[in-house]
Amino acid sequence: MSKSTSDSAVRNISANEPFSAILEKSLSRRTLARGSLGAALAAMTGAALSACGGGDGDSPAAQPGTGGGGGTGGGTPEAPKLALGFQSLPTSMTDACVVPAGYVAQVLGAWGTPFDDIAQPWSRDGNNTSNDLLHSTGMHHDGMHYFPLQGSSTEGLLAVNHEYIDETALHPAGPTQVNGKRPAEEVRKEINAHGVSILHIRLQSGRWSIVKNSRYNRRFTAATPMALAGPVGGTASVRTPFSPNGRQTRGTNNNCGNGFTPWGTYITAEENWAACFVNTGTQTRDQKRVGIQAAKGRYLWETAAGDTSEQIGEFARFNITATGADATQDWRNEANGFGYLVEIDPYDPSSIATKRTAMGRFAHEGSAYAPPVAGKPLSFYSGDDSRFEYLYKFVSTAVWDPKDADRTDRLAVGAKYLDQGTLYVARFDASGKGEWLALAEGTKNAAGRTLKEEFGSIDQILLNTRGAADFVGATPMDRPEWTAAHPTSGEVYVTLTNNTSRNASRGTNPANPRLNNVNGHIVRWRDQADSNVFQWEIFVFGSDAGADADTNRSGLTALNQLASPDGLSFDGRGILWVQTDNGIDGGRNNAVAKSTNDQMLAVIPPSMPATPGSGPVINNGNQGDLRRFFVGPNEAEITGFAFTPDYKTIFLNVQHPVNWPAYDSEDATAAPSGKVRPRSSTVVIQRKDGGAIGV
Ligand code: FEO
Ligand code: CA
Ligand code: CA
Repeated sequence: MSKSTSDSAVRNISANEPFSAILEKSLSRRTLARGSLGAALAAMTGAALSACGGGDGDSPAAQPGTGGGGGTGGGTPEAPKLALGFQSLPTSMTDACVVPAGYVAQVLGAWGTPFDDIAQPWSRDGNNTSNDLLHSTGMHHDGMHYFPLQGSSTEGLLAVNHEYIDETALHPAGPTQVNGKRPAEEVRKEINAHGVSILHIRLQSGRWSIVKNSRYNRRFTAATPMALAGPVGGTASVRTPFSPNGRQTRGTNNNCGNGFTPWGTYITAEENWAACFVNTGTQTRDQKRVGIQAAKGRYLWETAAGDTSEQIGEFARFNITATGADATQDWRNEANGFGYLVEIDPYDPSSIATKRTAMGRFAHEGSAYAPPVAGKPLSFYSGDDSRFEYLYKFVSTAVWDPKDADRTDRLAVGAKYLDQGTLYVARFDASGKGEWLALAEGTKNAAGRTLKEEFGSIDQILLNTRGAADFVGATPMDRPEWTAAHPTSGEVYVTLTNNTSRNASRGTNPANPRLNNVNGHIVRWRDQADSNVFQWEIFVFGSDAGADADTNRSGLTALNQLASPDGLSFDGRGILWVQTDNGIDGGRNNAVAKSTNDQMLAVIPPSMPATPGSGPVINNGNQGDLRRFFVGPNEAEITGFAFTPDYKTIFLNVQHPVNWPAYDSEDATAAPSGKVRPRSSTVVIQRKDGGAIGV
């Protein structure tokens, strides 16, 4: 996301900062040399190098993925040790992408690319219609996943999030108003540019392309009807004139990071949705806590209300001010249908997207699951990306049955695991230990008052997830973004992108130990079996290479300096891919931004020791193991990661470039010859020799 949609307000006014008094105690500023990562990896085999199952049918069993393994049995005794096989790239600041020698990068599915013959081709003048966008890729690509067809590494379904819009690029001459009202067609176009694309893609002669008119191709927008499942679905809090029984809502919005499931569905995360809604009356405490606007919505969609073409309040619903006698007479409950993880079955074009409310309501960044264990509950992790917000874990009530991975009624499987369970929030303690605090009705705060006494039943607790987390004393974090789970070890990582509001009066805590955290960091943890306790340590601190030792605690160099880590994904082999969103579109305002465009780096992390060390895992002794693999074009963020089962193709997204891609080339490394209308796009990376990526 760019600064234009990020919520920079501090909405957490709780006193939670339980360990500011013991500032810095747990974290030594010494960057302890712990030996190279390579040496630590000597203990690992090439596990999962052959992890791609050879399944047939449209089954997730045929897909590789983080957390999808469930054992280290994929390797053979002779399997080579996993090691990065490319040299770290230098920094770059151009209108082009950069990849290592021996690699190629292709533009695929840039904003406005038609996937059928209904849509008109993308117009360089911004003249496409709202209807064109229902049949084309949306704007501002973000989280993403590759779902193989029949286990194929050359044909599959690419699910892509479209996080937000650049109104200037979307319309011929930017957004307009007539007498203070947005034109209905402009608003529909903006709504349709949001959401998710499901794209049938195929590799032929070394080039990936969209299979036009495939039955799989479809768009979910900020207006597509969706189901509301879990404890909030069907309650009085979500009844609207559109859905009097509260079982449906329209649209998914500001879809940032993603997840996927062991049964082959996609999860899209609703992040900065709250600012699309306005309540000019008295706001409820959950509305204040999530950031509903008080004067006007972000895009003024509500101003198109009353247009003669309006259907069932399609514009009026963005104004949630209570004006009628009850919830059937106004849109007071409309925003309660947003802020969730949304499950999509990409393999079934007739399926309805389903919001899984049991997993909490906040600015969801994404979702990663720990490797499933037969007979045990499933765990899904999700960050709430805003300043001083929290890290969450959802644990299913149902225990994992491996046969469910092969079922074709995937959304029924989703209902089994994702509609009943317990949502937890993390408290990081100074000892390198932490605890997951249940957001359940009976959980008490420090004063002995239960969540039910404070908020009501579980649906009310979930609606105000942030307030409930405040109540139980969770640890405020430096903007938790993506989570990523190692494919086999059970270790989970979270990017904490930055927090320049962490000042002296707010204080630090062991997991967020730097004041004015411009550069961000990554924390990892391992849950203790059958317990709410976890063990954690800091993996890497972002910094520019020239910073002093107090800032550059990981000793980063010109070849891996990074700031604002955001996208984070493991591939099935155990390579961790780190992507950055350093706000370069807001001006090159920090030292890393002055040195390089946003980037993707790779590292093969060593296992967590039994007792976490006191310094970051990446340190002066192992700089060569964190390597820059990709640099994007000027002003763009790098986000979203997917790979084919054979690891010979990876996909990433370039979001909000300023002057890219070139008009007449699919080569992502080509700079335009002049000024172009910029387009976010997927970039496909392959090796010229056809080998596996990264090794
Ligand atoms: Fe959409 Fe938190 O990044
Ligand atoms: Ca992000
Ligand atoms: Ca971000």
